Amino acid sequence: MLRSAFLSLLFCGSLASTAQTVSSEAFKLPKGPLNQLSGQAFLSPSLKAMQSDASTNPISLWLEQGRSLWTGTAGQVSCAQCHGAVETMRGAATQFPKWSVKQQKLINLEDQILTCSERTPRPLKSLENAELLSLSALLHLSSAGLPFQISPQEEIQQRWQLELNAGAKIFTTRMGRMNLACTHCHDLNIGKTMRADVISPGHPTGFPIFKLSWQSMGSIDRRLRACYSGVQAEVPAPGSPELRQLELFLKSRAQGIPIEGPSLRR
Ligand code: HEC
Ligand code: HEC
Repeated sequence: MLRSAFLSLLFCGSLASTAQTVSSEAFKLPKGPLNQLSGQAFLSPSLKAMQSDASTNPISLWLEQGRSLWTGTAGQVSCAQCHGAVETMRGAATQFPKWSVKQQKLINLEDQILTCSERTPRPLKSLENAELLSLSALLHLSSAGLPFQISPQEEIQQRWQLELNAGAKIFTTRMGRMNLACTHCHDLNIGKTMRADVISPGHPTGFPIFKLSWQSMGSIDRRLRACYSGVQAEVPAPGSPELRQLELFLKSRAQGIPIEGPSLRR
């Protein structure tokens, strides 16, 4: 009883109020089931326009930086020297997170880039590093249009399943001072307004994101951490196993929905 009163206070019930709080722009969700929609469907018309115009989309600059990092400097070991043209990496981003036998943990694409950068003369230092994010953006773009393919190899099936189960458990466990689970927002309140945002199903298909309120590119880690902080829960450190398990769960949950590549967010 109490809980549902609290939930309705938190979420404005109707989309009419969305139009008021988000902006005066006409914002309409497509008809039909909302749970298969990517974050793109929840952008305002002006953000959608910015997203599709490379000349005003700030992501263009990040992709440019990604391309020059990929190619590297002549005479030095670069990503391209080992991997070839970035186009040959099509599909790579669909396979993460994967279980690394060597590291005995789940690694995502950003972890792989970090590891690989140590094979070059320009090792990157941290996960939210701008160069790392621009490479991540480039690699996600090269897999645009493809759905996630994160099935495990047979020999690690059991371990992988444990990680997936752990992710599912976090997704449905209440947390923080607001005492809400991911599922309360991203399954049960899709399309409702929360502060100035319209809640999406939380599909991980648009990462990394350039979020205007951050004035920067951010990884899926950063977004998930923001959701922890939003419910006033203790925020896990970037790269922590909990975030990888959630990412694995989100990508299984988004089965069949294509990767959109790096995306703008409010
Ligand atoms: C109190 C509501 C709430 C809870 C609980 C919550 N989120 Fe979110 N989340 C949001 C809002 C609001 C946004 C921004 C708008 C959107 O894309 O849904 C967001 C965005 C996201 C996005 C980015 C979607 C995109 O396309 O940009 C992901 C992924 C996500 N949340 C996952 C999670 C996970 C995993 C949890 C649990 C750890 C969680 N959220 C808990 C409200 C919540
Ligand atoms: C010296 C050779 C070498 C260099 C340089 C290198 N990589 Fe790698 N990369 C590898 C190897 C080997 C693997 C296989 C997994 C492993 O051992 O980490 C790999 C795997 C990958 C994968 C996963 C591919 C897949 O299909 O699963 C990505 C993505 C990647 N590298 C990105 C990069 C980026 C970005 C750079 C530049 C910062 C880079 N690599 C530089 C050798 C290299």
